[in-house]
Amino acid sequence: MQIENACVLVTGGSSGLGAACVARLAKQKANIVIADLIEPAESVLREFADQIVFARTDVCSEADMRAAIELGQQRYGSLRGVVACAGVLHAERLLPRQGVASLEAFRRVIDVNLVGTFNTLRLCGEAIASGEPDVEGERGVMVMTSSVTAFEGQIGQAAYAASKGAVASLALPLAREMAQHAIRVVAIAPGVFETPMMQAAPDKVRQSLIDQTVFPQRLGQPAEFAALVLHILENAMINGATLRLDGGVRLAAR
Ligand SMILES: NC(=O)c1ccc[n+]([C@@H]2O[C@H](COP(=O)([O-])OP(=O)(O)OC[C@H]3O[C@@H](n4cnc5c(N)ncnc54)[C@H](O)[C@@H]3O)[C@@H](O)[C@H]2O)c1
Repeated sequence: MQIENACVLVTGGSSGLGAACVARLAKQKANIVIADLIEPAESVLREFADQIVFARTDVCSEADMRAAIELGQQRYGSLRGVVACAGVLHAERLLPRQGVASLEAFRRVIDVNLVGTFNTLRLCGEAIASGEPDVEGERGVMVMTSSVTAFEGQIGQAAYAASKGAVASLALPLAREMAQHAIRVVAIAPGVFETPMMQAAPDKVRQSLIDQTVFPQRLGQPAEFAALVLHILENAMINGATLRLDGGVRLAAR
């Protein structure tokens, strides 16, 4: 997919991994719709005033997502790509010291991380499918954010791991289906990245995650995630897969 002048919608684009994608795509001269609950940093909007539009969006809402897509189409033309980064973290044991895990919290994580991603892809998929193929015959690309917890969920991560495992499982069936529309579907499973989501974790937890990383022994940088997103958008042979981006980390039970 050609990035220059393409319209790409980024959910969760106001923070962390999504914000890094927005910055990288903007530097490559794409036009971007940031679909997020919170506003992006003013500096980003100022730097790329003509290329970025913000649509306050709950990824679980059909109306919000349709409005965000429409805003992008009106301003920048056909939607070509989507990068689904919106997500929430939650840690709770099935049997905490007292009582049992909250069903409401479990539903919320599944709702945002899985149902929200599906809602994003179905509505963006419809919009991308209505566009014209490019010179290489491709209409567009949809990238989702899973996590290494999809494969090595730690104690207390049942809800988060289940949601991210389900996102990884979406990649192949959706890639197979969307092939008829010349649209690729790919998931990324990041290891541990330095974002506001991770900054909230206690130092002890962060250090233990760094210790479990093979090389380089540090947290991933959001720009490294954005670099992979860009590569996926540009490399037509990547499809139907969940790509680990994790410095070789294999999470232990705790
Ligand atoms: N940071 C990591 O180490 C890591 C590792 C693996 C996977 N991930 C995944 O990467 C994605 C981005 O995470 P991050 O670390 O950048 O977190 P972050 O908290 O910095 O950013 C998440 C963004 O999603 C937005 N968001 C949350 N709920 C939303 C909703 N219902 N509708 C619209 N927007 C919503 C938030 O407002 C925020 O801007 C998430 O899906 C996360 O699960 C992160």
